[in-house]
Amino acid sequence: MYRHFGEAESSPLYERVAVALSESDEALRAIEAAPARKRHPAVILAALHDLALGGRAPALAAAYAAGDGDAAARAAIDTLLRMTDSVVAIAVRRNTRTNETGHCAVLYPAIAEAARRAGANAVGLIDVGCSAGLNLNVDRVGVTYSDGLSLGDPASPVQQSASIVGDRPIPTRAMPEVVARVGVDLDPLDVTDPDDARWMRACLSPDQPERAAALEAEMALAATAPPLLLRGDAVEVLPDAFARVPADALPVVITTWALSHFSLESRLRFLHRLDEAAAGRVVAWVSAEGVGVAPAIPTLGDRRAFGHSTVGLAVFDRSTLRAEAIGRCWSQGRWLAWLAESA
Ligand SMILES: C[S@@+](CC[C@H](N)C(=O)[O-])C[C@H]1O[C@@H](n2cnc3c(N)ncnc32)[C@H](O)[C@@H]1O
Repeated sequence: MYRHFGEAESSPLYERVAVALSESDEALRAIEAAPARKRHPAVILAALHDLALGGRAPALAAAYAAGDGDAAARAAIDTLLRMTDSVVAIAVRRNTRTNETGHCAVLYPAIAEAARRAGANAVGLIDVGCSAGLNLNVDRVGVTYSDGLSLGDPASPVQQSASIVGDRPIPTRAMPEVVARVGVDLDPLDVTDPDDARWMRACLSPDQPERAAALEAEMALAATAPPLLLRGDAVEVLPDAFARVPADALPVVITTWALSHFSLESRLRFLHRLDEAAAGRVVAWVSAEGVGVAPAIPTLGDRRAFGHSTVGLAVFDRSTLRAEAIGRCWSQGRWLAWLAESA
């Protein structure tokens, strides 16, 4: 597994380290101290990176900083053997997650479209499976598209972009005021907590300066107005999350690449929760999920094997549900095809 992971890695440092671990019997024995589901290279390498970032594995930190693959391989094995208990403890406590930045190019026009359809002048965002809730700053970033359109705040320290696919233009409508930002996750990360923030950094490989810089900028922006984070199973916590959105604002639930982590039953119960909340008010749900993952959102006849995701918009208006695929996106939103007719 470690050799395959290394050979498939886009990070030269992690390729070198993972292959070296795969060739060390002692290292593999140390990894076996972790429960089976925590032995994956992504988790163990992130745990080692976390120790390096935290000043607890200086030789590894120095090798990563120097981009020296041979030294990193030696230091990773040494750290793993010397600090097996610490590595395993981090792996057990933490989950690796994408923590992908850069979803706003997809979310911004979709949320603005949700507000238009619901006739809302204010929205309350509820990000389900939010991780650190970076999506909740969607109105505070600037977005530019390959056709020249820009949305959001051009002066924001966070600027994102997407390439447009196809010929339907992205709607130019601005998002209404965001009056609530609520994140829901089984294990939310708080960007203002040093351990959580270090773990988010540790989940990137050490030789991805552009992704690290994007993450730093998004974390810094989030820290200036941290969202309310609700811990728990989304199905249980959603009623509380809806209650945090003022009555005169449209609750817009967001899911980005989160629902594939839910069982099918949980996804259906999640949908039911939205329907229940809509008994008292209009509710919208914006999703960016693999094809066929978001219940009720049409697949447009696409297949999962095509490798893109569907951008869904569902508006629950008391007894009616209008669910539509309003776009397709690739590379977690770096390429976007807008599909919806918009006024
Ligand atoms: C792959 S991450 C996606 C994170 C983020 N939405 C993104 O786009 O980068 C999936 C997240 O869903 C959370 N999650 C999984 N099952 C959940 C549940 N039943 N209720 C709430 N959150 C859940 C996990 O803890 C994890 O943070």
